[in-house]
Amino acid sequence: MARVLITDNLSAAGLRCLKEAGLEVDVRSGLKPLEVREALKEVDGIIIRSGTTLTEELLKDQPRLKVIVRAGVGVDNIDLSAATREGIVVMNTPAGNTTSTAEHTIAMLLALSRNIAPAAASMKAGKWDRKSYTGTQLAGKTLAVVGLGRIGLAVAKRAVGLEMKVIGYDPFLSAERAAEHGIEVVRQVDDLIDRCDFLTVHTPLTDETKGLINAERLARMKKGARIINCARGGIVDEAALADAIEKGHVAGAALDVFVQEPPGDDRLVKLPGVLTTPHLGASTDEAQELVAVEAAEIISGFLLRNEVRHAVNMAPLSAAEMADMRAYLDLGRRLGLLLAQQNKGAGLRAAHLMYRGEAATKNTRLITSSFAAGLLETALSEHVNIVNAEMLAKERGIRITESASSDVGDFSTMIRATIETDAGELTAAGTIFGKQFLRLVRLGTFSLDAYLDGTLLIYKHRDVPGLIGFIGTIFGRHQVNIAHMALGREKNEPGGDAVAVLNLDNEPSAAALDEVRKHPEVTGIEVVKLPPAGAPLPWLVGG
Ligand code: NAD
Ligand code: MLT
Repeated sequence: MARVLITDNLSAAGLRCLKEAGLEVDVRSGLKPLEVREALKEVDGIIIRSGTTLTEELLKDQPRLKVIVRAGVGVDNIDLSAATREGIVVMNTPAGNTTSTAEHTIAMLLALSRNIAPAAASMKAGKWDRKSYTGTQLAGKTLAVVGLGRIGLAVAKRAVGLEMKVIGYDPFLSAERAAEHGIEVVRQVDDLIDRCDFLTVHTPLTDETKGLINAERLARMKKGARIINCARGGIVDEAALADAIEKGHVAGAALDVFVQEPPGDDRLVKLPGVLTTPHLGASTDEAQELVAVEAAEIISGFLLRNEVRHAVNMAPLSAAEMADMRAYLDLGRRLGLLLAQQNKGAGLRAAHLMYRGEAATKNTRLITSSFAAGLLETALSEHVNIVNAEMLAKERGIRITESASSDVGDFSTMIRATIETDAGELTAAGTIFGKQFLRLVRLGTFSLDAYLDGTLLIYKHRDVPGLIGFIGTIFGRHQVNIAHMALGREKNEPGGDAVAVLNLDNEPSAAALDEVRKHPEVTGIEVVKLPPAGAPLPWLVGG
């Protein structure tokens, strides 16, 4: 039974959903990093929120772990490249907490503008002070929204309802789409800095957005402007923000997120004019239930049905598409395995896949990844699969490209793979007969029709009479049974260069191969081992 570890607080509805799906659930909160590493050895998947950080150290050498699901949006607490390199799929639940986080942002905006928190604290302290907490009205003021994705847009929509003027910046949102939401977009973040009374950030934390609102930009803001961060700590430079508030240039800030959580340095938290909450943006019953149930659904879809939903390091694929793709993934992997074995150790520089006919209509990126997995899986000591193969190839300087043509050549569907090595090029092409019968239809310049499974003896020769009988006799003597034979001839004429592929029921001994090699018209001989027909794909549940 597939097993899932949960190290952060997950709503009861999510846990119920996991159990009903038939998964074994191991809830263990408060684990130290090394304990998480040990616990990961025993599970197929893990669901986390922001409380667990999955570093390279924890993700390395976890052969059982296949999937990480982040119940929530931000995946900055997961080392994505380490997960990808280890072949682990990472997924998130992007939409479940959008509304709650947008509402929290608006709550922070209102509370900040009307000094709600300090006024409430002063009353709790027994005071009735009506002078110190005069606020500022929002209607008519300008709100700058940096990052107009799900939450940014939801915030903008609500701010328009509060009669604010909303300006925004997001390199991936068109001016037309923004205008539909009543937002004026600017071309760069600097264009909104000195125009706004309030600025709220809603981008992910990336190398580009770290310190996006820095000392220089804070200094350029209008005196008395206020900042809100309900996205990720560090998008607004914390020290620069504290300095700007202490100098009286920025009037205040509302922060739900911090570089370190809980914050190591409480300078900002203690500053008057700063309103803080402990990462509560998504903390509503509704959002927690939505993300927990969605996390449970996507992890069970993946572990039980090979479904890929909301993956951040792999293309999406439904269970039905996966079933439809199985034969293609298998064909891609087998072409990779074949060419890897045909290449006798020459430096591999590049690979190109050409998809024709029906193959071109499939998710070719995924088939290319499966080919890359086949190409590398016997060569690398690492666990190679469809998630990490292309990354591992890239790290080794192997360029993998693809092209597609809807033209149907000789076959209604075909994949042609070419590898470029220090010793030259090698090409093989395959097709699918019916729904699942995989065939090798091209080897180098030769067309043929061979089974693409089991033990293959490939020999190059001059097409002369008697050679097939010669090999048959040798193999008969050595008890090697020939299951199928395919011949490819130059220009399909007798007497020229030819290649033969024998599908063998058992592997020929070195002595049998030596005898074949001695024939004067045999110019090359090699044995290639492929999985048996219909063998499971090692990285798919149930193959
Ligand atoms: P999203 O992916 O829908 O939107 C992010 C937007 O940022 C995208 O439109 C993207 O184009 C834009 N962007 C990226 N780089 C940018 C840049 N340099 N300048 C301007 N825009 C840029 O994500 P979302 O669901 O809206 O989440 C936004 C943020 O909120 C994330 O950081 C997420 O982790 C955080 N979040 C926080 C809480 C919380 O509890 N406080 C809850 C949910 C999400
Ligand atoms: C998120 O990225 O979804 C938020 O930080 C919410 C959370 O996980 O608590």
